[in-house]
Amino acid sequence: KEQKLIPFIIKRILAYVSKVAPLELAKYPVGLHSRVQQMINLLDLEASNDVIMVGIHGIGGVGKTTIAKATRNAIASRFEATCFISDVKNKVKQVNGLASLQLQIITELLNDKHSTITDLSQGTNLIERRIHSRRVLIIIDDVDDHEQLKELVGSRSWFCHGSRIIITTRYKHVLNVHGLKEEEIYELQSLTPRESLELFSLHAFGTATPFKEYARLSEEIASTAEGLPLTLEVLGSLFFDKRGEEGWEESLGRLRKDEHNGVHGKLRLSYEELDETEKHIFLDIACFLQGKGTENAIYMWRESGLFPVIGLKVLIHKSLVKIDSIFNEFRMHDQIQEMGRRIVSQEHHPELRSRLWRSDEILDVLQYKK
Ligand SMILES: Nc1ncnc2c1ncn2[C@@H]1O[C@H](COP(=O)(O)OP(=O)(O)O)[C@@H](O)[C@H]1O
Ligand SMILES: [Mg+2]
Repeated sequence: KEQKLIPFIIKRILAYVSKVAPLELAKYPVGLHSRVQQMINLLDLEASNDVIMVGIHGIGGVGKTTIAKATRNAIASRFEATCFISDVKNKVKQVNGLASLQLQIITELLNDKHSTITDLSQGTNLIERRIHSRRVLIIIDDVDDHEQLKELVGSRSWFCHGSRIIITTRYKHVLNVHGLKEEEIYELQSLTPRESLELFSLHAFGTATPFKEYARLSEEIASTAEGLPLTLEVLGSLFFDKRGEEGWEESLGRLRKDEHNGVHGKLRLSYEELDETEKHIFLDIACFLQGKGTENAIYMWRESGLFPVIGLKVLIHKSLVKIDSIFNEFRMHDQIQEMGRRIVSQEHHPELRSRLWRSDEILDVLQYKK
C-alpha cells in the first residue's frame, strides 16, 4: 500500500512546487521591487468578483518579460493555478502554433495531459469551458497581433471571478483592440540614470557602484544605453573583461560611432569583439537554435571542429546567450536574435549567405540552384 502511496504523494508535491516555484529572473535585478508593486496595484488583487486584465507595454529590451515574471513570482501562491506563455509572437509562426499555445494553457492550468486540440475554435471552446472553475493567473508574453489574444484569452467571461491576466507587448494598439483601458496598461519606463549605472556596474564589476577610477567612464557608457536593461547587461558584461582605462576609452569611442547607433548597434559591439568560432556559434543560435535543446547542437559544433563548450561559456558570460537550466535549451533575447539575423542577411544575396532560416528564401535558393 505504501509503495502505491509514495509516488502519489511525490506527484502531488511536485505539482504544488511547480505551481509556485519561482521563475528565473535577471542575474542582477535592479528596480524590480517598485515596478512589481505598481503592477500589483493595477491587478487589484482584492477585487475578488472581477476578472482583470493588465497589459505591460514598452519597447524591446526594457524589461517587460522580467516584470511579468517577477509579478507572477510575487503573487502566484494566491491563485489556484498559474501559467506563463512565453514568446508568443514567435511561437505562433510554427505549424499549429496558436493551437499548441491553447493546449499549453489547458495543460498547465488543469494539469491535464490528455486533451488534444485540432482547431482554434475547439481550443477556445475548451479554455472557456474547462478553465472556468478555477481562479487562475495567466501571463501571455510578447504578443504582436490581436488575433493571438482573441484565441488565447478572448473574453473576461471565459474566466472564473478573481482571475488575473497579464499581457506584455511592444504594440499598444494590440491591447487597445482587446478592450484594455488606458488605466489597465502599465507603461514600463526605462531605467533612471542612477539605476542604469547600478545595472551596468553590477555586470562590469560585480558591485553596485563602479570602481573609483572607472566612475566617469562607466557613467558615460551607461548613458549610451538609454535606460534599456538589455543593453546595459550586454555592455556591462563586455567591459567586465577589459581592464585598463585605455581599452575602455577605445570601446567607448567605438560605441559613439554612427554604426553603433540604436539598440542593435550597441549590441553588435559585443558581437564584433568575439573570435571567429564564437561568432559562428552565436549566429547558429540566432538563426536556428533559440528555444532548442543544447545537446545536438554541441555534437554538431564539435563535429565541425569548433569548441562549443568554451564558445558557449564566452557567449553566456557576455550575456548574449542564456541556457535555461530546467529545459537545457538556448535562450536568446529577440533583440539580440534580430541583430544576429541581420548580420547574416547583410552578408550577401540569399544564395551566397552562410545561413538561411526563412522557408520562402530556402525554397527560392533551392529552385534557383537547379
Ligand atoms: N529590472 C531589471 N534589472 C536587471 N536586469 C533586467 C531588468 N529588467 C530586465 N533585465 C534584463 O534585461 C534583458 C531584457 O529584459 P526583458 O524582460 O527580456 O525585456 P523585454 O521583455 O521588454 O524585451 C533581460 O536579459 C533581463 O534579464
Ligand atoms: Mg520579452
